[in-house]
Amino acid sequence: MTATRFERPGTGAGTGAGAHPGGAAEAEGRGLSVAAAVAQRRSVRAFLPDPVDPAVAERALRRAARAPSGSNMQPWSARIVTGARLDALLAMTAAQRAALPGGEPMDPPFLPAAGPPPEGRARKIRNGELLYGALGIDRSDAAARAAWNEENFRFFGAPLGVFLLIDRQANPWQWLDLGIYLQSVLLLLEEAGLATCPQADWAMHGEAVARHLGAPASRRLVCGIAVGHADPDAPENVYRSERDDPLSGDPDAGPPRPGDLA
Ligand SMILES: Cc1cc2nc3c(=O)[nH]c(=O)nc-3n(C[C@H](O)[C@H](O)[C@H](O)COP(=O)(O)O)c2cc1C
Repeated sequence: MTATRFERPGTGAGTGAGAHPGGAAEAEGRGLSVAAAVAQRRSVRAFLPDPVDPAVAERALRRAARAPSGSNMQPWSARIVTGARLDALLAMTAAQRAALPGGEPMDPPFLPAAGPPPEGRARKIRNGELLYGALGIDRSDAAARAAWNEENFRFFGAPLGVFLLIDRQANPWQWLDLGIYLQSVLLLLEEAGLATCPQADWAMHGEAVARHLGAPASRRLVCGIAVGHADPDAPENVYRSERDDPLSGDPDAGPPRPGDLA
């Protein structure tokens, strides 16, 4: 690959996403409760080079197929890429990014045509403050943000990537099903001791990636998932994203209890 990696600023103590337990724990899962898996999953954006056993990812992708879907249509399909095939895919993507830095037109575009709703916009800005603040990148430094964002197209250094695909005819209901499948995959990988980052950015090169993977013409790429062992010292892994109360404004709901939104 020709592109240079984003250089992270120096970091303090590693208080982030934790080292992997590996071995049997990874293969068999750690018996996390659903609540614990949901609470501790986070998007990890810097990985150690330690390999991931593809069989663990295969198992999670198959187990996740117990996710519900409208009329049991199971609109999802998945591909795993690792080793030399991952290197080849990243090289192809780097070449396409060099030729087409803005990527393919995203369909649908990532944000609504009218812009994100006001609450979502404020949360998006806050998330950027936390992420780029952790990285030591000033909000006004568009070049530094863009350079760091390129890490998306290297799976943030993860040794294994997953792509989720859907039928081209799928409508928002089937995309909803795919989202449920995606979270099931993330939680099963969390249980297996692996860190993840779902990545819609891969849709910027979705047609090229789908062709490269030999996916049927009827399928299109929705997102990628970086899978690996978190680098506990990377600053982008140390911050914790925030949550608002989804029951806020519901007159029948009490206040959240400690830990509910942690
Ligand atoms: C469908 C989907 C697409 C996403 N795409 C990206 C992406 O392209 N790049 C990235 O760094 N994070 C991406 N994320 C991660 C979100 O930014 C992250 O989930 C959110 O900020 C909440 O943080 P958490 O996952 O650590 O709880 C995506 C998440 C989802 C669910």
